[in-house]
Amino acid sequence: MANKIVVLGSLNLDSILHVTRLPLPGETLEMNDKSSAPGGKGANQAVAASRAGAQTSFIGKIGADDAGKVLLDSLIDDGIDTNNVTKDSLRGSGQAFILLQENGQNSILVYSGSNQSLSRSDVDSAKGIIDNADFLISQFETPIDTTTYAFEYAQSKGVKTILNPAPAVPVIPAELLQVTDLICPNETETATLTGIKITDKTSMLMNGAHFAKMGVKNLIITVGSRGAFYANQEKSDFIDAFTVKAIDTTAAGDTFIGALASKLKKDFSNMEEAIVFANHAAAITVQRLGAQPSIPTLKEILAEY
Ligand code: RIB
Repeated sequence: MANKIVVLGSLNLDSILHVTRLPLPGETLEMNDKSSAPGGKGANQAVAASRAGAQTSFIGKIGADDAGKVLLDSLIDDGIDTNNVTKDSLRGSGQAFILLQENGQNSILVYSGSNQSLSRSDVDSAKGIIDNADFLISQFETPIDTTTYAFEYAQSKGVKTILNPAPAVPVIPAELLQVTDLICPNETETATLTGIKITDKTSMLMNGAHFAKMGVKNLIITVGSRGAFYANQEKSDFIDAFTVKAIDTTAAGDTFIGALASKLKKDFSNMEEAIVFANHAAAITVQRLGAQPSIPTLKEILAEY
């Protein structure tokens, strides 16, 4: 049976600015191209979970504008339950401006807009879908207080919680860590949180020990094109990524998390199998342009095996 996943998070309309390199301070630089695509870490993770085969619902906030309609339609087209995507009539929809360099690297500026209005009352309205979920996933592009409240409720109902602490913050409130079953930062985010830079296996183990001390039982650190490290009370290991030529890494981490959650068992006993599946999915994403347009379907992921 397919996993039931609820994602609480952001929706952004991404403007992708194609540049040869980043402009220097005071410099005016011509772009090579520009494009637009639905994005936002939360929405990307929901799309990844749904395309990978999970029954997916979304809790989020759009503005009462054209961008909001595009973002909502994109989730609906992917078969995601959007009954708990509501509108903020005061703030515009979230937007991201992505400077995509020729070498595939990106730098992102985000305008949070309506994402910041997602509140506890939105979680209260969505309790019915959380009750029936296997996993609840959230990130940091919506208010941390709302995520904490949702995770507390989810855990009280036996739903497993997955936190993607992105964008990076220096400290995660202890109340949130206490109700997080799996934390999944990338190497930059983990170093910001623990102060331990990822250089080798020892530094990964030290990060693992740090999170364990903070009370999180399961950890996955994604290490870009190299792969992912996981650690829990029973085991820790590093699983290599698949080598591909990246043209745009936007949403690679989001694809990893959504695909991972669609495959994970609720007792986290198949971490390795789920990470390999998620690595396959992310490897496809980096070879395509844009956030949601680049996320693969289950058929595409399975074709990589
Ligand atoms: O993780 C990628 C996402 O980050 C983009 O889609 C952009 O919207 C930003 O939120």
